[in-house]
Amino acid sequence: MKHTNPIINEMFDAAQFSETGHQLIDLLTAHLDTNLAGSAQVLNWKSPSTESLKWQAPLPKKPTINPKELLHKLSQEILPNNLAIHHPHNMGHQVASPLPLAALCDLVASLTNQAMAVYEAGPSATMLERQVIRWLCSLINPETWGNAGGVLTSGGAQANLTALLAARQVSSSKANPSSSIWKDGVSQQPPLRILASEHAHYSVSRAAGIMGLGCDSVIKIATDESGRLDLSALKSAHQRCIENQEVIIAVVANAGCTPTGSIDTLSAIGHYCTTHGLWFHVDGAHGASALLSENHREKLAGIEMADSVVWDGHKLMYMPAAVSAVLFRDEHHSYAAFSQDASYLFQGNGHEDEAFNLSYRTLECTKRMMALKLWAAFSLYGSQGMGALLDEAFAKAKIFAEKIQKRRNFELLMPPETNIVCFRYLKNHSNQTQANKHQSNIRQCIIQSGKFHITQVDLHGITWLRTTLMNPFTTEQDLDELLENVDLASQAVLSMAK
Ligand SMILES: Cc1ncc(COP(=O)(O)O)c(C=O)c1O
Repeated sequence: MKHTNPIINEMFDAAQFSETGHQLIDLLTAHLDTNLAGSAQVLNWKSPSTESLKWQAPLPKKPTINPKELLHKLSQEILPNNLAIHHPHNMGHQVASPLPLAALCDLVASLTNQAMAVYEAGPSATMLERQVIRWLCSLINPETWGNAGGVLTSGGAQANLTALLAARQVSSSKANPSSSIWKDGVSQQPPLRILASEHAHYSVSRAAGIMGLGCDSVIKIATDESGRLDLSALKSAHQRCIENQEVIIAVVANAGCTPTGSIDTLSAIGHYCTTHGLWFHVDGAHGASALLSENHREKLAGIEMADSVVWDGHKLMYMPAAVSAVLFRDEHHSYAAFSQDASYLFQGNGHEDEAFNLSYRTLECTKRMMALKLWAAFSLYGSQGMGALLDEAFAKAKIFAEKIQKRRNFELLMPPETNIVCFRYLKNHSNQTQANKHQSNIRQCIIQSGKFHITQVDLHGITWLRTTLMNPFTTEQDLDELLENVDLASQAVLSMAK
């Protein structure tokens, strides 16, 4: 098919798509091989202010490169200056080294661009999403989650917001049936509160801010020495809310909290919430994937009592970002977060096909076909294959923790429950501020060396080095090397200070 305007013709040239596409796959295959082998640097560190000097070109009015040069730019300038996500020394954030075939599914999603808001704007895309949602719910519990439902969202932060919006709607209308918070806003309501672990992800406080409750409406519940929400602190906070005539819209527990990966005692919290009629939300963005493993799913016992669960695909399901699920035990609640009047999209309540229009349940109107990659991965590798990835990550974290404990000058924060390991390096510091600064300096030194990528976290005034072991190709030797590098970085930092 030819267009009369040559530039438009070129933009949609299928032959060029094929030629460039094949070359792109070759380029990415080489990139993947190099990264998995760990032969390049994990991060080519340059300060953002230096790097930004390279990206000041004016907006091109005319073409400045052809497709070949685009590939050249990618291979020479863009890919080498990104974080090498498949590198065995990439141990920082909770981001998956994605399954290559899942990444191909994202290419399909991009080219076919199904809008997904309503069924007809992506019939297969809608069916794939419903299928995947059913699979995830059945992993929580095939019986009690038999009438469950939910949607895929672009990330766990949005999934948490969606769950908490639904919780706000359901809990506030229980407490105050004469007013609808969606229609009337929060001014007609008694003070609304969220009780959340002090380790809850920031998206929980942010959701409270977005919902107009103010982020101070999130009451932070203390955790124990294992990083788990303290049940007696939860009970006291609940009691205080009752005395102050505040309405609790949700109790938020973590299944794999962000700082330490700790999993709250979901069963005890779930029982408490059920007894007291409180909405129980489990943020399993990180750790819900333990449901895929026969070895680890017991750690999540009680998750089936949740009213809502968040589960990220781009963490321990090894998907390219972003794909997250927000799941509701009672499917009706998946409609509670939002309300809308949009005749250009929806045909109204009572139409038998209306349930197939997914955007009733999401903040997003247009969204990517996110389910294809998850559906493909489950179909290609089975839940057992996906569980094997999680087993691998959790086992590596345990080995790493044992290595830390055996080393002089190293302190382990706690034995890991998932794949997040926090530790610090101690060297005769005169005070806590100095000890904290030392960890940050070590981390900076390591990152700038390009040898490893690790993160850090502050907990109760103490700074810890933090690793998330995601990559199945990270070996024990890599872990030993990291500890040796921390040792060396510490010496380098101390000698620079002299
Ligand atoms: C426990 C937890 N919840 C929610 C989020 C937010 O997820 P996302 O980055 O997919 O928006 C994170 C991110 O790391 C997380 O660790």
